[in-house]
Amino acid sequence: MTEPLKIAVAGLGTVGAGVLKLLAQQADIIEQRCGRRIEVVAVSARSRGKDRGVDLSTVEWYDDPVKLAAHPGADVVVELIGGSEGAAKETVETALEAGRHVVTANKALLAHHGTELAAKAESKGLAVAFEAAVAGGIPIIKGLREGLAGNRVSEVHGILNGTCNYILTEMRTTGRDFADVLADAQKLGYAEADPSFDIDGVDAAHKLAVLTSVAFGTPVDFGNVYVEGIRHVSALDFDYADALGYRIKLLGIARRTEQGIEQRVHPCMVPKAAPIAAVDGVFNAVIAQGDFVDRVLFVGRGAGAGPTASAVVADLIDVARGRSTPTFGVPAAQLSKAQPSPMEARRGAYYVRLMVVDRPGVIADIAAAMRDQNVSMEQFLQRGRAPGEAVPVVLTTHDTDEAAMQRALATIGAKEAVVEPPRMIRIEQF
Ligand SMILES: NC(=O)c1ccc[n+]([C@@H]2O[C@H](COP(=O)([O-])OP(=O)(O)OC[C@H]3O[C@@H](n4cnc5c(N)ncnc54)[C@H](OP(=O)(O)O)[C@@H]3O)[C@@H](O)[C@H]2O)c1
Repeated sequence: MTEPLKIAVAGLGTVGAGVLKLLAQQADIIEQRCGRRIEVVAVSARSRGKDRGVDLSTVEWYDDPVKLAAHPGADVVVELIGGSEGAAKETVETALEAGRHVVTANKALLAHHGTELAAKAESKGLAVAFEAAVAGGIPIIKGLREGLAGNRVSEVHGILNGTCNYILTEMRTTGRDFADVLADAQKLGYAEADPSFDIDGVDAAHKLAVLTSVAFGTPVDFGNVYVEGIRHVSALDFDYADALGYRIKLLGIARRTEQGIEQRVHPCMVPKAAPIAAVDGVFNAVIAQGDFVDRVLFVGRGAGAGPTASAVVADLIDVARGRSTPTFGVPAAQLSKAQPSPMEARRGAYYVRLMVVDRPGVIADIAAAMRDQNVSMEQFLQRGRAPGEAVPVVLTTHDTDEAAMQRALATIGAKEAVVEPPRMIRIEQF
């Protein structure tokens, strides 16, 4: 009889409790699939008295997750605390030092320290597995690293944050403003009390940095991800996007270009017919472009106890079967540094919304600022007239350089008749 795989779980919140529930409920199929049982031997969280809806009577309790990480009877430490530093990082480092495999859902930790952790693990013949860290229940890490291993990937893009996708979907379908929808999302538990990591794009950027590394075999380079959140998207933008044939999504995009590797997270207008445009609510999606496979689309739930536990346990099953793959698809020592492509080098079309005082000459001034930067306008929309008052004016451009667009917007924003900072959303023609 093969020995069970013994695991120690640090963090018993949404994901940790979900993992324990899944392991208990699916014990039979897990045993069938790996030929051995997965047994929880120890757990750690802050509050021992909290009811977590799982039976902890047979496991050892640790107040300190770092001590748990060195538990002598554990083969694997599952880190489900969160955060790029502090307890989570120390737990993972201690586990690797002690010769334990690590499974984690912690994208912040991987975005900041992924390459070093991978190198440390691989030098000791250990795994650091993180399927749950990117897009929750969607098996995108295995999909890219194993399923598409025969391809050169040129691009990965996706909806990587369910909170933002929920807010944007609600804004579009109800016509309500950002602040109003965010407050509701917080009441429903779809947004944190402090939502900034989600709505300012940081969470999606953490995930994108990890995805980029897996897609291109490069060290994790979070510092070069351009990040812009969704606070400035207004109800008006949804009206105009609809009229122009677009949906608005917060996307993470990683692309290999002639300048290097682009990594960016920002609101995008995408054609309504693009498959990603139809991914609404809390769902996530990732599209990968490989040279032999062409385009592959993954869609599913990006968060929540069940979907995230599903991904964590898939990693545990790999360890139980003795299956190992280099952390980011190629051995950490062979990850090859790539030139980051700066945001100013982005080339594409733009949507711009301005609030301008309706008086003679203003539109000509805007057109002149665009022309001076060689930005060619495609459409120009001004609905109704209100002489002497501020009215919204919307325009879209043909493909142009980000740097030229930024210069044109700076000139336009400085005009006295332009009463609010220009708002710009990049158009992506997938
Ligand atoms: N929630 C999701 O849907 C989701 C999806 C994908 C990835 N993730 C990632 O999964 C990880 C966990 O997320 P979560 O939503 O489960 O978080 P959570 O509900 O806040 O749970 C965190 C757990 O860590 C424990 N903890 C916090 N600080 C600790 C410390 N210093 N020592 C010991 N235990 C400590 C907490 O203990 P107490 O319970 O006693 O407070 C709690 O059990 C994060 O990295 C997150 O980004 C989450």
